[in-house]
Amino acid sequence: MNTMNAAHLRHGSNIGQKLTRREGMLKVTGAAHYAADHHPPGMLYAVLAVSAVARGRVTALDVAAAKAHAGVVAVMTPENVPQLALHPDEKSNPFAFRLDVLQDSRVRYANQPIAVVIGESLEAATEGALLLAPAYEREDVSVTFESAERFVPAAVGVGSPPREGHGDVEAGLRDAARRVDVTYETPAHYHNAIEPHAVVAQWHGDQLELDMPCQGMAIAQGRLAELFGIAPQNILIRSPYLGGGFGGKGLVAGPLVLGILAAKLVGKPVKLVMRREQLYGPVGHRGMTRQRLRLGADAAGGLTAIDHHVLTASSRFDDFFEPSGGVTHTLYAAPALQTRYEAVRVDTGTPLFVRAPGEASGSVALEGAIDELAEACGMDPLAFRLKNYAEVEPLSGKPFTSKALRECYAQGAARFGWENRKLAPRSMTDSAGLLTGWGVGTATFPAHMFMAAARAEIRADGSGLVEIGAHDMGQGAWTALAQIAADGLSLEMERLEFRMGRSDLPDAGIAGGSAHTATAGSAIHGATGAAIAALAEIAMRDETSPLFGAGNAGVVARGGHLFRRDDESRGESYAAILTRAGRDSVEGRGEGAASQAVMEQYAAHAHGAVFAEVKVDPELGQIRVTRLVGAFAAGRVINPLMVESQYLGGMIWGVSLALLEEAIMDARTGRPMNGNLADYHVPVNADIPSVEAILVHEHDPLINVLGIKGVGEIGITGTAGAIVNAIWHATGVRVRAMPVTLDKVLGHL
Ligand code: MOS
Repeated sequence: MNTMNAAHLRHGSNIGQKLTRREGMLKVTGAAHYAADHHPPGMLYAVLAVSAVARGRVTALDVAAAKAHAGVVAVMTPENVPQLALHPDEKSNPFAFRLDVLQDSRVRYANQPIAVVIGESLEAATEGALLLAPAYEREDVSVTFESAERFVPAAVGVGSPPREGHGDVEAGLRDAARRVDVTYETPAHYHNAIEPHAVVAQWHGDQLELDMPCQGMAIAQGRLAELFGIAPQNILIRSPYLGGGFGGKGLVAGPLVLGILAAKLVGKPVKLVMRREQLYGPVGHRGMTRQRLRLGADAAGGLTAIDHHVLTASSRFDDFFEPSGGVTHTLYAAPALQTRYEAVRVDTGTPLFVRAPGEASGSVALEGAIDELAEACGMDPLAFRLKNYAEVEPLSGKPFTSKALRECYAQGAARFGWENRKLAPRSMTDSAGLLTGWGVGTATFPAHMFMAAARAEIRADGSGLVEIGAHDMGQGAWTALAQIAADGLSLEMERLEFRMGRSDLPDAGIAGGSAHTATAGSAIHGATGAAIAALAEIAMRDETSPLFGAGNAGVVARGGHLFRRDDESRGESYAAILTRAGRDSVEGRGEGAASQAVMEQYAAHAHGAVFAEVKVDPELGQIRVTRLVGAFAAGRVINPLMVESQYLGGMIWGVSLALLEEAIMDARTGRPMNGNLADYHVPVNADIPSVEAILVHEHDPLINVLGIKGVGEIGITGTAGAIVNAIWHATGVRVRAMPVTLDKVLGHL
């Protein structure tokens, strides 16, 4: 008798509410302990020594001097580093990146770890590391697109071909009435999370206990298990709070493995926290791109073809390709389109996922080129986008599970006042004489789902428990997932115990790809539904229950009670059911994953439209974003506060991409020249005068049981394009190399 399923659940009061962060008080009072806040008894401090050269070999380290320093306990070098069970250059899967963990004296990029000094205090270890005075044998480096080693990757991402498309692109371009052929560039970006990578590692025999910020605890467990030759369940990871991840904490970085190795070497708990400037090398970054876009349109402004060629960079020793072409697969209805990838090998650490990997860099190029084609057609850029609106996914021809992009354009434009825009560039000036420009960009990001599991319990006191190894990088998982859990059990938030952030809870998959709420939320929904169903079974078999014989009609859960569906006046509390049955609790388990059937038939993406106003000083070239309005549609909104916060954060990062952010490498030495937060510019309050996010309603019955798409990455995608287009509209100058700094417009004004 299985008369209960999740569809019977009435959605209660929590989903959709603007609840503030449940852990907020802990964070603002300092009671939330981040990884580096842990100090187990007897703990020592490990400090990395990193390479000052970008390629070559370490020929000497003054280990004796470091060891002789007061408070230094040990120096770990390739000579004495404990053996790993798997060589760190082995690639056990496509996302097991090669690690630099003192396997030899080679140097593959600047800031690569070359030794670890372990001391009784942070100061002792830091001073010891300085005494190592490394000597190097240097080799010539290449960190630019002019690198000699150029190649077509075998696959991009998880097996996407390096060349994809449909239709005859060359014919489409040849027959076009209007064409553009433009090259956009985006520089390398570093994640720069506020919290640096850190680990506190404790070995207990072959058991490993870690406090370590993770976007994917189970992935980290698996990777560390293979490296150390122990079972994954021997590794406990605690990661309740992260001070930002942005893709940089999705995989275990080499320096954290070194912290764990250091603990093994000294036989004591060890803490290793990376210094800010050490993050510019061994923990990933967004690879630079050079994207050539050739677009054609017919006389009426309909696209005839898009060719998107992406040149990007990977490291000399491993592969990751910024997948910038994805946006061209999904955004505009072109009868012929293709994307092609090429890469150069450079002497940097391996690039990695960075918030909206591919879409962030790709959309600024595509949105710029689309704007240029609209200009060539003499059309309003929003009208041009609507003219080329994709009713089905252009690459695959599949319908979308849902797509409220038209509504995004409409609501964003109305809020922004787009109808008052003058078509010609350099036609708007404010009362202070500043050139004023308005631009639009389309935002898009795939609605991914990974795999997650969850466990739910209803207890004899009528309270509930939900457990899932989920991650909160700041996006609000502690709150949003608990809202789903409370509604799933039909309980008030106060009656729910919600546990997450530990690897001994059911695997929630990775908090990445904007997929965490959808995936973990679906698992929670399944688990809570199963717990309710198990409870209903008990009641319906009990002759003394008012639910006895509810039979095929089943029951409905509401406010900690079950009621007969055929007579909602008859019901009883969870506590009454369990107490009478002599049970402490009843449990349910659930899983979350994409429906293969849906994914085969449909394309799944979130969308948005971003409108930007910029003002440019005609004499100084200074560029300010004065207004940003983004309208986004991403399925069901679990918590409007958290979702708005994600959109705003993404849009602010879009400002960064357009105007500020750029990792500058010294082409002679291969060293980062601005590898610190003083010189690596990101926006601060004064850079962002007004930013608004509109949450556009979108009902998606197909994407998953809760109708959730992701919101974490999409905000960055439309924004940079809107800003560069606004700069053109203000000045008449098209700048195609990010970031648009004043030197690139000055002299053209
Ligand atoms: Mo994100 S770059 O998938 O953490």
